Amino acid sequence: MDKMKKEGFGSKLGFIFAAAGSAVGLGNIWRFPYLAAKYGGGIFLLVYLILAVTFGFSLMITEIGIGRKTGKSVIGAYKDVDKRFAFLGPIAAVVPFIITPYYCVIGGWVLKFLAIFATGYGKTVADDGEFFTGFIGDWKQPTIFFIAFALLTAIVVILGVQKGIEMMSRILMPVLLVLIVGIAVYTLTIPGALSGVKYYVLPNFKGFTFTTFLKTLVAAMGQLFYSMSLAMGIMVTYGSYMRKEDSLEGSVRQIEIFDTAVAFLAGMIIIPAVFAFSGGDPAALGKGPSLMFITLPNVFKTMKGGQVVGTFFFFLVALAALTSSISLLETIVSIICEKTKINRYYGTLICFAFVIIVGMTSVFGYSIWDKVTIFGYQFLDFYDFISNNVIMPVVSLLTCILIGYFVKTKYIEDEVLNGEKKFGAKGLYKVMILVICPVCMIIILLSNFLVKL
Ligand code: PHE
Repeated sequence: MDKMKKEGFGSKLGFIFAAAGSAVGLGNIWRFPYLAAKYGGGIFLLVYLILAVTFGFSLMITEIGIGRKTGKSVIGAYKDVDKRFAFLGPIAAVVPFIITPYYCVIGGWVLKFLAIFATGYGKTVADDGEFFTGFIGDWKQPTIFFIAFALLTAIVVILGVQKGIEMMSRILMPVLLVLIVGIAVYTLTIPGALSGVKYYVLPNFKGFTFTTFLKTLVAAMGQLFYSMSLAMGIMVTYGSYMRKEDSLEGSVRQIEIFDTAVAFLAGMIIIPAVFAFSGGDPAALGKGPSLMFITLPNVFKTMKGGQVVGTFFFFLVALAALTSSISLLETIVSIICEKTKINRYYGTLICFAFVIIVGMTSVFGYSIWDKVTIFGYQFLDFYDFISNNVIMPVVSLLTCILIGYFVKTKYIEDEVLNGEKKFGAKGLYKVMILVICPVCMIIILLSNFLVKL
């Protein structure tokens, strides 16, 4: 990042790819489908899409705008915008510290599945979940794969080979997209899959109550923050590298479309497949974090050449996860180095140790500590919840108040006009920042106390 900071991004496309590389990750392929399956399929999809083009758009333009205007990373940026909001930087900076460890734990699960497929054992893990539950229920293997994934991430961060990674993701991200489309098309040919497609794309309001709506809204909003890497300072930092002459609005739209398309397609594979294999059983749909690891092997098993396709698929998922975890680790390393003035090498070592120690609580949470819960959540789920549903909404709420009521939306509008003649969605932007975003954020925060998700 230091290197990038001096140079900035060389082109508009370079910026879009880097931001999309951070955004597209496990959130799209692993988290989105299981949430959509759990929270009513079509209704979740509809709520998510509406939020993405209004809410996600406004927040992302705000964060990237703050970064580009101040030219600083998150801790300095908020202070620059308004001294009274200087405290917001450190709060946003806490989020990647919470997410990175458990992100690497799940990255480890992906590596394990990649190893299984690559060695020709893909068929042996296609069952009703016994394999996966057994795997995470015994801490030894998840620990090894977790450490391997965290190590890979740390090596890239130490060597500073982001350039190489960036180039690789430039080539491989489009490949991932093609592969996802291909597998999605295949999934549709499995008998029984079409009712899954219906469940996924057509909202069904039967039996829909206010509480279910609230739950869906909260889950969709949490997902939006996570998937678009919002409310944790990452987009502010990326914005500080962006060239002044490039279009802010256009770039944000493209990142958003890419991120949402990958999530949508991942759901298009997983949800119809769950339907086909379970007959639409709500228990199967509500499986949560384990959904991808149970359903996909079943799809690959029925597929001709599934072993090879599965290997390739898990390889690309691992890569997408890696580009995201690198941006996460990079962020916490630069925060530690900035604060303590130690060099990058030791900074990375310290952060690596931190990731391992905290990550182990997530590994144990699904195995030897599975009776231990924090406010009713297992460790991994708790970290996920506290960051996505508590800290991120607080950061976003305060950011909206800062931009909407202290420095006024003109602050961002002017920055948008730097790179283009017109801010097309200015009206929408104002309404979102001044009214709708803050109200939604307050709803999320209150609902945490009212309904257990
Ligand atoms: N957005 C990434 C994903 O969808 C996760 C992530 C969050 C990455 C925050 C970097 C920063 O998987």
